[in-house]
Amino acid sequence: MEYNSNEIEKIELELLLEAVWQRHGYDFRKYSRNSLYRRVKHFITNEKIASISDLIPRIIHEEGFLRILLNELTIQVSEIFRDPGFYSVFRKNVLPVLKTWPIIRIWSAGCAGGEEAYSLAIVLHEEGVYQRSLIYATDLNEEALKQAREGIFSVSKMREYSGNYQKSDGKGSLSDYFTVNYGSAIIDSNLRKNIVFSMHNLVSDGIFTEANVVLCRNVMIYFNSDLKNKVVDTFTESISSGGFLCLGTKENLFECTSKTRYSEFDRKYKIFRKKFE
Ligand SMILES: C[S@@+](CC[C@H](N)C(=O)[O-])C[C@H]1O[C@@H](n2cnc3c(N)ncnc32)[C@H](O)[C@@H]1O
Repeated sequence: MEYNSNEIEKIELELLLEAVWQRHGYDFRKYSRNSLYRRVKHFITNEKIASISDLIPRIIHEEGFLRILLNELTIQVSEIFRDPGFYSVFRKNVLPVLKTWPIIRIWSAGCAGGEEAYSLAIVLHEEGVYQRSLIYATDLNEEALKQAREGIFSVSKMREYSGNYQKSDGKGSLSDYFTVNYGSAIIDSNLRKNIVFSMHNLVSDGIFTEANVVLCRNVMIYFNSDLKNKVVDTFTESISSGGFLCLGTKENLFECTSKTRYSEFDRKYKIFRKKFE
């Protein structure tokens, strides 16, 4: 049978994902193929590796190669106060509801370098409820978590982040929450106190905590509909009645079986409220 090079690469990608799964237990088999394919192609081109299948013996035998490939397969792009309008709506419309709970538990799933968790901490602080809030921030990427725990960001990005913060209706100046040291901006340790960073894989691990809010923004966009459905079910189990599920602006609940358990709270910023049942 004749195969063109594109079809052969598709086979190679499937075999690579199988090797990652069987050798290391990380399951990317239900991630959207287009994005995975682009990432892997980008990686082999950059590293001057001849073919996708050349990655297979390395993933099986080479100590430390998984870490390198994971950084490529899991997209770490994030920003402090990413989508400022989301934080503005969160502050104005979601927080008044959260304030009625004695303890505010928030799960930031797929937290990357902690940008989302620290943005939330700042909003909660400015609204006077940080002391009674707990933020659980999870990711499967250990390296991202290490960075997140350190709370150190490049000063070169702070101008953009300050702009985001202003647009999100921040009450002060973003620089109030960071100390600058040798080109790095370090988050105020008081804002780290109520954040727990943990390893959690949305594919293979179950419910992480009971939460009043789950944020899973710009993560499920890389999943196929089957996996997305399963993960939304996990969140639904986790979110208390009347709690919130916040997705990325390009994400939605259309194909999910649990969608009927939510009402739309903010259409633009993809905030859903779990119904009282
Ligand atoms: C594009 S970033 C989004 C970060 C942040 N939520 C935001 O919106 O800026 C996607 C994150 O999801 C994480 N991720 C991907 N697959 C995951 C999984 N199965 N379990 C947990 N985290 C995952 C990646 O490691 C990465 O940190």
